[in-house]
Amino acid sequence: MTSLDLTGRRALVTGAAQGLGEGMASALAAAGAKVAVADVQDDLGAKVAASLGRDHTFVHLDVTDDGAWATAVEQTVSRLGGLDILVNNAGVEITSLIIDLDAAQASTQLQVNLLGTALGIKHGFRAMRPGGPAGAGGVIVNVASVAATIAFPGIAVYSATKSGVDRLTRVAAMESGRLGYGVRVNCIYPGLVPTAMGAGLAADVARLGLFGSPEEAVSAVVGLTPSGRLGEVSDMSDAVVFLASDAARFVNGAGLPVDGGMGM
Ligand SMILES: NC(=O)c1ccc[n+]([C@@H]2O[C@H](COP(=O)([O-])OP(=O)(O)OC[C@H]3O[C@@H](n4cnc5c(N)ncnc54)[C@H](O)[C@@H]3O)[C@@H](O)[C@H]2O)c1
Repeated sequence: MTSLDLTGRRALVTGAAQGLGEGMASALAAAGAKVAVADVQDDLGAKVAASLGRDHTFVHLDVTDDGAWATAVEQTVSRLGGLDILVNNAGVEITSLIIDLDAAQASTQLQVNLLGTALGIKHGFRAMRPGGPAGAGGVIVNVASVAATIAFPGIAVYSATKSGVDRLTRVAAMESGRLGYGVRVNCIYPGLVPTAMGAGLAADVARLGLFGSPEEAVSAVVGLTPSGRLGEVSDMSDAVVFLASDAARFVNGAGLPVDGGMGM
């Protein structure tokens, strides 16, 4: 057994019906954790949970809804027997030039990416702190983005929300330490991964005239990346397993770039 082993831990992963979140749920399960797959996409999310096996479960969760968080955490604690790991992964990206900004689209990104993560931290703390229904401390991993660390055109509001996730992470780690919650809080900054969101972004920035084609946009990203390739889902899920595990026991309030060096 290594310090990356998660046997006996209970995890909740938001936005886990597809993409990076699905990969994170699967990697946490492979490391030994029982996982609650949380998403607004009930059919897909339930399929992911079923594919992981009988120890795992699906919970419906819209991360922008405070009351829904309380219910989802309660269901997770009661079905899995506790909560030790929370991954705030759910996110949306709506590409737009600032000059064409649509207030409703900007608000959606703020609500899901920023408010959703803040509410997740709130309910994670309430459950995991001493005296909470889980009560044994734990780990929160937030999913920011390389977009929080560079200036990529077409994603101004998205980038701002991810910079906000970075700050939420630091303040949350500080409050947890000061108030003795026993919860480490870190974030990752993924580079571009060709999930539905990543592939959509490449198409969008080409449509907006920022690049000649989606392929040219991808080449530009790869050209800025010392490792010379796009990210893969497993690159992100391995980093989440590390931060969730005892191997990262003295890593707290940190942001880990998982971007092949693009954001340095
Ligand atoms: N793919 C990339 O290139 C990339 C890069 C950096 C960061 N990220 C971040 O990684 C995370 C996952 O991205 P992805 O590429 O897997 O995206 P995706 O679009 O493939 O999946 C996002 C998931 O979040 C869910 N979701 C959306 N709104 C929700 C809500 N209100 N409540 C609960 N779930 C909700 C969706 O149903 C979906 O299952 C996001 O936070 C994203 O910003 C992605």
